[in-house]
Amino acid sequence: MDPAKFQDILKFAISREEEAIASYRKMSEKTQSPGLRELLIDLQEEEKNHKSLLEEITDQKIASFKIKEVPDLKISDYLTEEPPAEEMTFQDLLIFAAKKEQEAVELYSNLERNAEDEDLKKLFQFLILQEKTHKLKLEKEYEEHVLEED
Ligand SMILES: [Fe+2]
Ligand SMILES: [Fe+2]
Repeated sequence: MDPAKFQDILKFAISREEEAIASYRKMSEKTQSPGLRELLIDLQEEEKNHKSLLEEITDQKIASFKIKEVPDLKISDYLTEEPPAEEMTFQDLLIFAAKKEQEAVELYSNLERNAEDEDLKKLFQFLILQEKTHKLKLEKEYEEHVLEED
């Protein structure tokens, strides 16, 4: 893959991390539950860390990013969701956030598959694991709090 293309994908990933930071901040301000607020603040911190990790990828690393197969980076697939509406309920926001985490898992999996540089591979594997954990935490929260309240 040519480095310029990889730059674009990286920029896209960084902007997705920024969106995640903003939406966890919003949600943490919106929730009435102190436990959930704590979780959302933790998630926000981890997304901030992802953003810095992506920003630290050097041009050298990008140059060593080689393509193994014909890429389908599916960027358009990640853009189908509408931004959450203002009137969305808190439950809807949790589900929306979990879906976004799944998209992040897919984006980083795609990058990981296509990377040949070992450090880059490890970085993407770390990100995949974290985003999977985020999704799980949100779903658990939904199960424990939202479903119980009905
Ligand atoms: Fe992230
Ligand atoms: Fe995440």
